[in-house]
Amino acid sequence: MRLFAVLLGLMLASPALHAGDFKYVGAKSCKVCHKNKKYGDQWTKWLNGPHAKAFESLKTDKAKEAAAQLGIDDPTKSEKCLVCHTTGFGQGGYALDAKPAHNAKFEGVGCEACHGPGSAYKKLTVMKKISAGEYKPEDYGMVVPTEQTCLQCHATGKGCPFEKEFDFAKMYPQIAHPLPEK
Ligand code: HEC
Ligand code: HEC
Ligand code: HEC
Ligand code: HEC
Repeated sequence: MRLFAVLLGLMLASPALHAGDFKYVGAKSCKVCHKNKKYGDQWTKWLNGPHAKAFESLKTDKAKEAAAQLGIDDPTKSEKCLVCHTTGFGQGGYALDAKPAHNAKFEGVGCEACHGPGSAYKKLTVMKKISAGEYKPEDYGMVVPTEQTCLQCHATGKGCPFEKEFDFAKMYPQIAHPLPEK
């Protein structure tokens, strides 16, 4: 009984979750708060930017023609294209064998493609404590994105027929969505 109490005490004392506990929830889960002007409206900035339409781009004639030359019938059904044009591909986000309603949440490069799976950090109390520096982002599955995050998809040499050069200093300002100055 006493051992049980000690173990329970240890468990309660460490609020951090483990890697496998973090799940992709989809960008709409962030919209509730991050469309708020008070917090900087990152949602609208993202929605009007290139990443939100990354899945739609795979449906264009241009995409289909380029894919055909690589022997790919339908780029919206090929892992070779989806890996960078969706969110959390094969990691619990978009998946070829998942239901359409699940995949709909992960079309395009959503918030979590850069910020990490949101199931644990999307809670208001957690978000505020991370923002205040009281909680470590990584303990809640949050990645603090850097240039390395971009290079997982940009200028990789891994098969995008439309790959361009990547210059973080020029590209980042095009997608920046900061919190308002305090
Ligand atoms: C329940 C409301 C809520 C939800 C849902 C939410 N956030 Fe937040 N988020 C906040 C608040 C509040 C802040 C802190 C704003 C401030 O400090 O002014 C914040 C801050 C952040 C920060 C900055 C953290 C830092 O280090 O300062 C990031 C990044 C972020 N949110 C990403 C996301 C993502 C991605 C999602 C969806 C998976 C999400 N948030 C869902 C309310 C929310
Ligand atoms: C999960 C993959 C992925 C990550 C991570 C990613 N991007 Fe992208 N990015 C894309 C895709 C795919 C497109 C093309 C969208 C379209 O037009 O369909 C794109 C387009 C862009 C564009 C539009 C200009 C262009 O070249 O077409 C900019 C700017 C950009 N990304 C900046 C960034 C920056 C900065 C980061 C890192 C903070 C980043 N991206 C991280 C996949 C990614
Ligand atoms: C390694 C990640 C990655 C893979 C794999 C990938 N893409 Fe891309 N794609 C990108 C990025 C990043 C961009 C934005 C252009 C840039 O900055 O390089 C992009 C842009 C595009 C665009 C928009 C081009 C434009 O000028 O509007 C189309 C269409 C596209 N990709 C189709 C495909 C197809 C089809 C496949 C599969 C054969 C594919 N991509 C595979 C990362 C990828
Ligand atoms: C292509 C990658 C990418 C995507 C997609 C993305 N972000 Fe970000 N986000 C970043 C980067 C990079 C920063 C700057 C990180 C820093 O300042 O430390 C950032 C910063 C933020 C911040 C402000 C942090 C601060 O301290 O000012 C918030 C809040 C945020 N993102 C929320 C979101 C939400 C919500 C979405 C989706 C609607 C989203 N992001 C989509 C890469 C991305």
